[in-house]
Amino acid sequence: NLYKEKYRPQYHFSPEKNWSNDPNGMVYYQGEYHLFYQYNPADVVWGPMHWGHAVSKDLIHWEHLPIALEPDADLGMIFSGSAVVDKNDTTGFFDGGKGLVAIYTTHLEREESPLQQQAIAYSKDNGRSWTKYEGNPVIENYGVEDFRDPKVFWHQKSEKWVLVIACDDRVRFYNSPDLKEWKYLSEFGSELGSHGGVWECPDLFRLSVENSNQEKWILQVGDQEGGEAGVSTQYFIGYFDGIRFEADEEKSHKVDFGQDLYALQSWSNMPDQRRVWLGWMNNIAYAEDIPTDGWRGMMSIPRELSLRNTKAGLRLIQKPVKELNQLREEFYHQENIFLEDELSISCNSQSYQLKAELEIDDESDFSLSLHKKDDQQSLLNYAGKTNSFSLDLSKTGLVDFNKNYLKEKNINRISSNNILLDIFVDYSSIEIFIDDGEISITDLVFPEKNSNEIKLSVNNSEIKINKLNIFEMNSIW
Ligand code: FRU
Repeated sequence: NLYKEKYRPQYHFSPEKNWSNDPNGMVYYQGEYHLFYQYNPADVVWGPMHWGHAVSKDLIHWEHLPIALEPDADLGMIFSGSAVVDKNDTTGFFDGGKGLVAIYTTHLEREESPLQQQAIAYSKDNGRSWTKYEGNPVIENYGVEDFRDPKVFWHQKSEKWVLVIACDDRVRFYNSPDLKEWKYLSEFGSELGSHGGVWECPDLFRLSVENSNQEKWILQVGDQEGGEAGVSTQYFIGYFDGIRFEADEEKSHKVDFGQDLYALQSWSNMPDQRRVWLGWMNNIAYAEDIPTDGWRGMMSIPRELSLRNTKAGLRLIQKPVKELNQLREEFYHQENIFLEDELSISCNSQSYQLKAELEIDDESDFSLSLHKKDDQQSLLNYAGKTNSFSLDLSKTGLVDFNKNYLKEKNINRISSNNILLDIFVDYSSIEIFIDDGEISITDLVFPEKNSNEIKLSVNNSEIKINKLNIFEMNSIW
């Protein structure tokens, strides 16, 4: 009954069994998207970290592969990191050919404090087997406890590999000609952005601004205690010249307004021009207590990124990747109707996509119930007066497994045009994209089985539904 368990997501990646956290080593190579992930093969809680491994031909259907990297006798556990294609054999590992190189953190438990350093491993057979480099660690610890999660990319202008890594309350940049010898360049962030806890899992890349030929650099980094209920993730917009990152503003922006999206990583070496990432859909404040059975931890859906000039300034835009469309079966369709009271729809399944365009004014006030069954529901409320949403998960099913889980969220819209909703519901999650990717809200929920009702209720003046589509999502398993 694998993948039929009560809370098992049907179109999100999750390991067959036991504990998983961050996505790692995401790289596209020779027709396959690789997804490695923090994995404890022995238990459903965090423990000795390995890199689990899966591959996909379409970003959606995953095939599980054996564990890729196991803890090291000398250097310790395998923490988060990234992977690149060494096209020109800069490492010399590939006899003039090419192959994959993983760059990751090793974590050694010691009596005083743990030791975190950076190491590399390479694969000549499309990630199926890995050899750890005999010269590890390639970056030694420089006297800080938290020194982890290297993300590496090829920087064309300087013709060097660039590495960004989280170190306590900041990130550091290094570069290298060969992935083995690394030179420290600069650091960023100690005085800027959100600092509830240590920084983790950075990513750095260029993005173009929609409808323009402008490009900007995005630095994404997690704050381990940055949210009201634990983790949060933020991004800075700015410029990276190969040595230094300079942010346009001192402030960072939230990547997501829920509480269950963390450790985001984008794929390197994509076969097209897209920048696509996904994150661990969980929160370290309660991750070990979520009530799933035999397995723990899932990934968000992959999201395509861009930048948009919004009314509030430049903002990161996240849109579900188009590959998801292959899973859907149209179940419900409605156009151009006025709604005065309520609309109830009963789905056949608890995994679906709901898309809507709603015409509103300052009097509008509506609620959308998802995962509804009797008085259980996940409730998304909209208030026209403040042009804001709130998400109430207090009646969504099992909520008392950890006191940090329940937090009501208030989210201000940026746009004031028609509301665009694109919502992905799975057995134990909700991902809400508002206004064509301007706002994302990602949350875990634990409803009863067959929580299949959807209800849209208007609490004040009528609203016009320009369009409403519901698609059932087929299982990827
Ligand atoms: C983030 C994190 C990383 C670390 C990994 C260990 O969730 O704490 O910083 O590398 O998890 O599993």
